[in-house]
Amino acid sequence: MFPLSYRSPKTEIRASQIHGRGLFATTDIAKDEIVAVKGGHIVDRKTLRQQIAPPLGPVEIQIDEDLFIAPVTEEERELSMLYSNHSCNPNLGMRGEIKFVAMRDIRAGEELTHDWAMTDDDDYSVECKCGAANCRKILTGKDWQRPELQKRYAGYFSAYLADRIARQAMLAG
Ligand SMILES: C[S@@+](CC[C@H](N)C(=O)[O-])C[C@H]1O[C@@H](n2cnc3c(N)ncnc32)[C@H](O)[C@@H]1O
Ligand SMILES: [Zn+2]
Repeated sequence: MFPLSYRSPKTEIRASQIHGRGLFATTDIAKDEIVAVKGGHIVDRKTLRQQIAPPLGPVEIQIDEDLFIAPVTEEERELSMLYSNHSCNPNLGMRGEIKFVAMRDIRAGEELTHDWAMTDDDDYSVECKCGAANCRKILTGKDWQRPELQKRYAGYFSAYLADRIARQAMLAG
């Protein structure tokens, strides 16, 4: 079976201190290199919540206000999963809505993480276990609205959120 997603040959999946399995660099990765590209089916929130999350768990990434990309069957799960955990001190960012790129030079052995604030606009609130010195402890689906994160991740938000941030800034004058 062909994979639905792309993971750089410089990566591998193994046990993570943050949660379950994670994505790790096997060799050095340069800033702005493509690390992974998410593939799957395009589904809306209702479909995700009712039909995909119950059997498959958290397998999606959000690509617009009411659109997600995800596997839809058990067989597709492994073909689509990227295994990138959340960190409040991430080394990956978004380019467009499905490409994960290195936000800085990454050394072999580092876990490859992104911040869900870069991709999510949702109503959840969860405890973070990333262990970073700057951990927010509680993550919410509205963290993309935090001014300090908008500044820190400028250029690395999912394109649909970058558009919203730019529109809000224009309206604010
Ligand atoms: C797409 S999965 C990432 C891969 C996951 N570690 C696994 O083994 O399947 C996302 C899930 O991982 C967990 N997770 C990832 N980062 C986390 C973090 N910083 N704190 C707590 N849970 C996290 C949450 O359960 C979340 O729903
Ligand atoms: Zn954290």
